[in-house]
Amino acid sequence: MEKDVYILAIESSCDETAAAVVKNGREICSNIIYSQIALHTEYGGVVPEIASRKHIEKINQVIEQALSEAHMELKEMDAIAVTYGPGLVGALLVGVSAAKAISFASGIPLIGVHHIEGHISANYIENKDLEPPFVCLVVSGGHSHLVLVKGYGEYEILGRTRDDAAGEAFDKVARAIGLGYPGGPKIDKISKEGNPDAIHFPRAKVAEAEYDFSFSGLKSAVLNYLNSCEMRGETINRADVAASFQKAVIDVLVEHSMHAVKSYGFTKFAIAGGVASNSSLRAAFEKACEKENVEFYHPSPIFCTDNAAMIGTAGYYEYRKGIRHGFDLNAVPNLKLGER
Ligand code: KG4
Ligand code: ZN
Repeated sequence: MEKDVYILAIESSCDETAAAVVKNGREICSNIIYSQIALHTEYGGVVPEIASRKHIEKINQVIEQALSEAHMELKEMDAIAVTYGPGLVGALLVGVSAAKAISFASGIPLIGVHHIEGHISANYIENKDLEPPFVCLVVSGGHSHLVLVKGYGEYEILGRTRDDAAGEAFDKVARAIGLGYPGGPKIDKISKEGNPDAIHFPRAKVAEAEYDFSFSGLKSAVLNYLNSCEMRGETINRADVAASFQKAVIDVLVEHSMHAVKSYGFTKFAIAGGVASNSSLRAAFEKACEKENVEFYHPSPIFCTDNAAMIGTAGYYEYRKGIRHGFDLNAVPNLKLGER
């Protein structure tokens, strides 16, 4: 029998300070997330300087907690996996420095993990049967990528956003209709009381890039709609605006994704990232995949938003490939998927 592999994983790319212990890639022994959302809410978005300071304050505590909840000691770990990009440079540096220090002091190998690779790998945690190849739509606060997952750690990006990420659009529209930060979950909730066909917002296509996304035009259309209502003295039905905006985003995501799945002849499709926890988005993909006879995979909401368990899962497959990083590992804020 093969020896069990335990990975201590660390994530600090944005506003969650997180650590986890992952066994053999798919078994989560612990998953500690300290969310800073409450701290950033009064500023209407993530303040990088505050995020870095809070990461420094919390990082050792979440790492210790991850080990103690897993009932394990550091010396039992086979590798330390850490997100080294993309993300906020000051935030990333905290996790990377902590991982390097622990690795240096203990002699346990270090593995740098791409944050998006982590999001994609979150699908492996609860779907034990899922293996590449599949198509994955990654939709978070910072990214909107349509990716062909050809193998573990082997990716081809089919499309990406030309401007705002999907989550960013949710956050901006939520702010415009006075829902506050973070907007995604609030739009998700209020949309249930609204009519998604009340207002027709544009579904943007990018010329000559059939898989790319663009959400800034949609955001402007919502702002224009709100302004014109205000000028006419009309009251705004926030639930209708939210539901109609949400439908416009989902329609484009579903159309592009299904087009990719069919064109490339894949039978499996997965979603990942914070926006993947949106209930209407899940329902829309459930329906579209059923229609196309495609197997649909998605992580639970706790594994959609930033966490370290997904970094441990991605790190495990890197470990299996023999990938190790030296102490020159640095934070790379704009790290590209597939780069090392
Ligand atoms: O993956 P994530 O935690 O962080 C990044 O890597 O960016 O994603 C955070 C984003 C935020 O924009 C948030 O508004 C959005 O995910 N989000 C949602 C929902 N939950 C979180 N968007 C739509 N519906 C949701 N239920
Ligand atoms: Zn993320």
